[in-house]
Amino acid sequence: MAHQLQYLSGFGSEFASEALPGALPEGQNNPQLCPYGLYAEQLSGTAFTAPRETNQRSWLYRIRPPVVHKPFKPSKHPFLESDFRKRHPNPNQLRWNPFDIPKEEVDFVSGLRTVCGAGDPLSRNGCSIYIYVCNKSMGNSAFYNSDGDFLIVPQQGTLDITTEFGKMQVGPNEMCVVQQGMRFNVGVSGPTRGYILEVFNNHFVLPSLGPIGANGLANPRDFLTPVAWYEDRDVDNFRIISKYQGHLFEAKQNNSPFDVVAWHGNYVPYKYNFKNFMVINATAFDHADPSIFTVLTCPSAKPGTAIADFVIFPPRWAVQEHTFRPPYYHRNCMSEFMGLIYGNYEAKEEGFRPGGASLHSMMTPHGPDVDCFNNASTGELKPVRVADNTQSFMFETSLGLGLTDWGEENCQKIDADYYKCWQGLKKNFDPNWKPSPKHCSINIKVPIKVMPQNDELAVENKMLNSENPVNLLFG
Ligand SMILES: [Fe+2]
Repeated sequence: MAHQLQYLSGFGSEFASEALPGALPEGQNNPQLCPYGLYAEQLSGTAFTAPRETNQRSWLYRIRPPVVHKPFKPSKHPFLESDFRKRHPNPNQLRWNPFDIPKEEVDFVSGLRTVCGAGDPLSRNGCSIYIYVCNKSMGNSAFYNSDGDFLIVPQQGTLDITTEFGKMQVGPNEMCVVQQGMRFNVGVSGPTRGYILEVFNNHFVLPSLGPIGANGLANPRDFLTPVAWYEDRDVDNFRIISKYQGHLFEAKQNNSPFDVVAWHGNYVPYKYNFKNFMVINATAFDHADPSIFTVLTCPSAKPGTAIADFVIFPPRWAVQEHTFRPPYYHRNCMSEFMGLIYGNYEAKEEGFRPGGASLHSMMTPHGPDVDCFNNASTGELKPVRVADNTQSFMFETSLGLGLTDWGEENCQKIDADYYKCWQGLKKNFDPNWKPSPKHCSINIKVPIKVMPQNDELAVENKMLNSENPVNLLFG
């Protein structure tokens, strides 16, 4: 139950937790005999030799070591894909209607569907994006990802996640990260759906805040890590499922792997509630770049350029003056995958629905649809609330995303009419345009050169080209 779960607070901290008093060895990591007859095990999240500031590992003290499993055997999964060059590239703007949750019984692992991705897990470079749809708990099984980290964003239904580190409950408007190698089990009640961002290269970190200062955006104290919880349960044929090099493998063992009585370290699973995000926004004019909404980033080797960013668009105030307030039209050198947890996205109120998605690939133009442009170009610019009762998010990657068979075809959710939302954008250009009183005015003292278009304009241009200060109006 959610209210009974306890968490440790902080991001990147050295945590320690024990479910029995004195279960955590004192003064050393692997004593000759551990308290309570436990086995000691180290779970490494970075190379042993990674610099101290990025080095991650945890020590687990458990009833049996995980090595007791029988051999792994391949396990088929029709919707998992890690070959992102299989299909022909598709540069179009894409939008998916809400993905179906199957009627037949499906759990979190069998409910994984790869939508798109880049790179490959063998060379540990790239990322994948999944939809998960399920309606059944995983029962006597545990899953772990050998290839990278899962950032899980529930859209419908709450996930009761049991990990080797303890339990966490994660619902819509929250996210969690379960990192490479951590075994976990997902319990659900009813139809459940959400999104997953997987990264192969590095672990997620909080973005640098630069001039924002020491506080803001996602604050470290709001990340929550489970406290130690264990079960001493013998189970015939408990299934251990590993995603290894993009494929599933299954091994059996005769006990629950959630038998860690105590642990310490800085390599841990964690969750975060979006309501805690401290939103920064433009308070004078112009639309800030969406990077101000970054919750977590997985950095690449190129400074300031992410393998993938996780970005949210939370409820906030919009107060900018003489500004087109929705997102500007743009073409991006990154790939942008968006999802909607609930409500309406501000730049496209129709068609982009909770449980659906959109993908705007590298250099593919996108921006507000016709209605949004028209409304935002003429609306009164008083302070207004934006995105109340709405939560959309973006997985943004510097890599080119290739679609899977399921993502582009088999899901049968691609909205073929998506491009039409921009087709009605009219030409508003008027060479005889004159400023109207509603436009904002600022004084510009630099002479402006304008090439005369015809005789009528020549008089005006003569005025504009004069050395006198010009009161230039624009909106
Ligand atoms: Fe965009």
